[in-house]
Amino acid sequence: MFHVNDHFQKLPGSYLFAEIARRVKVYQQEHPEADIIRLGIGDVTKPLVPAVIEAMHKAVDEMGQQETFRGYGPDFGYDFLVNAIREGDYTSRGVELAFDEVFISDGAKSDVGNIQELFSEDAVIAVTDPVYPVYVDSNAMAGRAGEYVGDRWNKLVYLPCNAENDFVPPVPDRPVDVIYLCYPNNPTGTVLTKEQLKVYVDWAKENGAIIIYDAAYRAFINTPNVPLSIYEVEGAKEVAIECNSFSKTAGFTGTRCAYTVVPHEVCGLDSKGNKIELNAMWKRRMATKFNGVSYPIQRAAAAVYTEEGQKQIKEVIDAYMANAKIIRESLAEQGFTVFGGVDAPYIWLKVPEGMTSWEFFDLLLDKCHIVGTPGSGFGPSGEGYFRLTAFNTLEKTRQAMERVSKLKEA
Ligand code: MLT
Repeated sequence: MFHVNDHFQKLPGSYLFAEIARRVKVYQQEHPEADIIRLGIGDVTKPLVPAVIEAMHKAVDEMGQQETFRGYGPDFGYDFLVNAIREGDYTSRGVELAFDEVFISDGAKSDVGNIQELFSEDAVIAVTDPVYPVYVDSNAMAGRAGEYVGDRWNKLVYLPCNAENDFVPPVPDRPVDVIYLCYPNNPTGTVLTKEQLKVYVDWAKENGAIIIYDAAYRAFINTPNVPLSIYEVEGAKEVAIECNSFSKTAGFTGTRCAYTVVPHEVCGLDSKGNKIELNAMWKRRMATKFNGVSYPIQRAAAAVYTEEGQKQIKEVIDAYMANAKIIRESLAEQGFTVFGGVDAPYIWLKVPEGMTSWEFFDLLLDKCHIVGTPGSGFGPSGEGYFRLTAFNTLEKTRQAMERVSKLKEA
């Protein structure tokens, strides 16, 4: 019989959010009367804004007319969307990108999961801890994480982020090839200032490493001096690839559109010591394995950058951030220690003394009928913490916090 990829057998359990969904389903079956409020997976709840819907409708109509019908789109995205991104997300912030440095895709999750194909089999990977599980699992599937021993992978370099270091990860204490950073951070909801981020850019330059920067939550930044893009940091174009998404910015979790920036300056060495542009490799990979995002969806994404689109998505983001404030403040009132939720839609809290993250998950589900995400699911340093999202409705968010306030009496 043929052989399968052994590395898959080393993965512990199922994907975090699949495991949570499974547990919630079991609970709901056992307690059909429970009115469950979902503050677990970071999925949006508000509809697409009118500017986006209008552009999508128009594009759908174009697809039904002989004169305006379109087949395969350009491999890396339509000009109108690539240029809207360059102008709206970069030139406006003092960053110039070449047209062919922007790649349109169906999601930041796919891009951050796929990007590891560009690295050698023995590349050493560093991740902040806790961390969005996709960076870890995709490298584990490719065999770079080694073995899962206890609560961690023995070949990964973990950069712990916790209350003790103010959620600022230390730079690696040994040589690594790749560092994954996500800011605003999923799961902790914390951010780095430009000066703090520069430390990693400088380290990567000095040590010949590359940074994979996940900026999926950039639209939630409120604090001045917090960069929306790593390229706002001097020198970052030489060492960083940046992944962005319309999922959280404009409610596209079910619509699917994202983009990744691969600057020409970012180079690695092949086994013969030749310097290779990652931009050329990513082009080759995308052209081979991806046929692009559909025309109506790219039109919808481009509408995000119109004046109307910007105004409308801001209102949605403000509404989510109002939820974040409610969660932060009411948890603090209940005596919880809370982090994040100021520049990100995630609130990271310490679970009550003596409990594990999963025990708190069970308690919250059973006593309050609230679903959150256990911190330990994001890595060893997440143990003792818990994540709630601000993506539910105002009404449900308030209701959830009211239930939490009764937790102590329960
Ligand atoms: C999360 O809950 O961490 C996000 O929904 C993950 C994602 O965007 O894939």
